Amino acid sequence: MSVARQFLRTCRAGRNTVPIVTRIPTNHFSTTRANCLQTTDQKNRIPEKEVPVTDYDAGHSSAHKRTLPVNPTPLRDTSSSSWPDPETVDPLTRDVYERMPKTMRNMSMFGKTVIITGGARGLGNHMARACAEAGAKNIVIFDANQELGDEAAAELHDKTGLPISFYRVDVRDAAAITASVQACVEKYGVPDVLINSAGIADSNIKAETYDVAMFRRLIDINLTGSFLMSQAVGRTMIAAGKPGSIILVASMSGTIVNYPQEQSCYNASKAGVIQLAKSLAAEWAKNEIRVNCISPGYMDTALNRVPALEAQKKIWKSLTPQNRLGNVDELNGLCVFLGSDASKFMTGANCIIDGGYTCY
Ligand SMILES: NC(=O)c1ccc[n+]([C@@H]2O[C@H](COP(=O)([O-])OP(=O)(O)OC[C@H]3O[C@@H](n4cnc5c(N)ncnc54)[C@H](O)[C@@H]3O)[C@@H](O)[C@H]2O)c1
Repeated sequence: MSVARQFLRTCRAGRNTVPIVTRIPTNHFSTTRANCLQTTDQKNRIPEKEVPVTDYDAGHSSAHKRTLPVNPTPLRDTSSSSWPDPETVDPLTRDVYERMPKTMRNMSMFGKTVIITGGARGLGNHMARACAEAGAKNIVIFDANQELGDEAAAELHDKTGLPISFYRVDVRDAAAITASVQACVEKYGVPDVLINSAGIADSNIKAETYDVAMFRRLIDINLTGSFLMSQAVGRTMIAAGKPGSIILVASMSGTIVNYPQEQSCYNASKAGVIQLAKSLAAEWAKNEIRVNCISPGYMDTALNRVPALEAQKKIWKSLTPQNRLGNVDELNGLCVFLGSDASKFMTGANCIIDGGYTCY
């Protein structure tokens, strides 16, 4: 009986195929192996108790053979209580930071002081949590909502033990912003990072009937608010000669026109934020202050959880290659990257994060 036939028989009998493979001459192997493995995989799958392993590495002068016991327990049991609770926030400790490789340390926000507007809920709140997990030393939330802001700050402090402050500030109020940023500087030092996430949306309003007062209000919050916050924080960085990173949350609506809802004012406000970021980036590059935008697509936050938008959400999904809205924490990685030294050569950029919406 040929070696190849012997091999096939063994496979059909369902025995361990691994040692046999080593005895098969290569010319037989190429023609018979595919069929044999297919038979084994589809009909006679037998769980191995151990896996033979051969290592070729610096620790051994020649090939080092060993067996790897197969643990029948799944590596990740999502039903088990040991799986991290998505609500936990684990701050990056000095000990862990110091053991991280250079690239990962560079991608952290270790030791940084962060001011975040709109941090009381939604995307801003989750970015604040991410900053804590990425090593921020202090986090200051600016938000117009007293109750939510207090709750968010207390919760983040309880979960992390980090110093967290909440200032009830409306981003339209230049004097309150200046006083509050100054108070933060006195308490925590000049901030390293500003994240501007405060914003509102109006949609399904036709341009020909758009109320002027509403138009002005939205521009005041989304665009002028981004400017006032950047100006106040930028001033302190410039005065201290301290490099920093400013992250403005714009929107994909700053570069595309959403469909089917009519929302000329929101779209214009976010286009303004993107151009503001580029202008500040160019002006303040000499001060080592970087200014970049995160432009989300449709995200599953309270801003969009309104009954009037339910039917339109189906259309939004169908126009998004990933066929879903973004999760509330899906800006976190980009936010940490832009706040970290890993993005030191990046300024004036508009990063769209939209499940592919703008591909079409
Ligand atoms: N959710 C989305 O689909 C989406 C998409 C693109 C861009 N964005 C932008 O992301 C940012 C955050 O959106 P979100 O979905 O988390 O919204 P959200 O409504 O859940 O949170 C916004 C936060 O900003 C605060 N805020 C509103 N007006 C303020 C003001 N005048 N001064 C200070 N704080 C104020 C609110 O109190 C709230 O805590 C906004 O700028 C929004 O335009 C959201």
